[in-house]
Amino acid sequence: MRVFIHPDRTSAGAAAAEEIITAFTTRPDGVLGVATGSSPEPLYAALRAAHTAGTFSLAQARAFALDEYVGIPADHEQSYRNVLRRELVGAERTGLTEENLHTPDGLADDPNAAADAHDRAIRDAGGVDLQILGIGSNGHIGFNEPLGSFSSRSHVGELAESTRHDNARFFGNDIDAVPTHCITQGLGTIREARRLVMVADGENKAEAIRQMVEGPVAALCPASILQLHPDVMVFVDEAAASRLEHRDLLAAVAR
Ligand code: F6R
Repeated sequence: MRVFIHPDRTSAGAAAAEEIITAFTTRPDGVLGVATGSSPEPLYAALRAAHTAGTFSLAQARAFALDEYVGIPADHEQSYRNVLRRELVGAERTGLTEENLHTPDGLADDPNAAADAHDRAIRDAGGVDLQILGIGSNGHIGFNEPLGSFSSRSHVGELAESTRHDNARFFGNDIDAVPTHCITQGLGTIREARRLVMVADGENKAEAIRQMVEGPVAALCPASILQLHPDVMVFVDEAAASRLEHRDLLAAVAR
C-alpha cells in the first residue's frame, strides 16, 4: 500500500486523478470503479477539468458504482446514480455515457437479485481495471461495515448507525432521512479490482486511515483488507494522515 500525503484535499484529489488520466489514456475502453460521497469530489473535478482541456475522456469507458442506497426514489438527488451523473456523465463532464454508467438497482423488487446482477455485470465486463475508493470514519469501504466477511460478493447491507450519522449531512442533517440499507460491492468483489486508488481527507478519517495502513488486517476495519492487495495507492490530506506513526517507512514504500 503506497500512501501519498498532500497538504489539502484538492491536491490529493488532483494527484489521484492523474492516476486515472494515465490509466484511461493508455486504455480508453477500460473499466472504472466509481465511489460517491464527498471524498472523490476534488478528484472528479480534476477529471472534468482534464476533459475540458482535451487531455482525458471516459467516452469509451465503462463505469461501475461501488454502491447504491436501497429504496431511495430514482429522482432523489442523493441516489448514487444521480450523484455520479452530476459528477461524470455527459460530454460537458468527462464524456462518460449514461448507458456505460452501471449502478446497482436500489429500487428493485428483489434487491438481493439486483446485488447479484451488479456483481455479474462487473465480471462480464472483465472486472474493474481501476477502482476509486473513499473510506468511512469506521473503516468501511463501499458500504462494507465492520465485522462483515472479507470475501463477500455484492450484497444488500445494513448501514451502521455511525455511517447514517456521517451521511445525514447529505439529507438535511436528518438521520431519519438516511436510508437504512444499501447494495454494495462486497469486499471480495472490491479486492478483485486490478488497481485501487483511495482518497480521504479530514480529521474524522484519521483513525480509520491509521487502522487501515498501520493496523492489523482485521474485520473491525474492513479497509485493512487492502493491505493484502498488490496495487493500492492512498491519497490523503494532512488531517487524514495526522495519526500515522510511521511516515518515514511509508515514504520509503511509496518511492
Ligand atoms: C461511497 C462509498 C463509501 C464512502 C465513505 C466515505 O460510494 O462507498 O465508502 O466512500 O462513506 O464517504 P465520504 O467521502 O462522504 O466521507
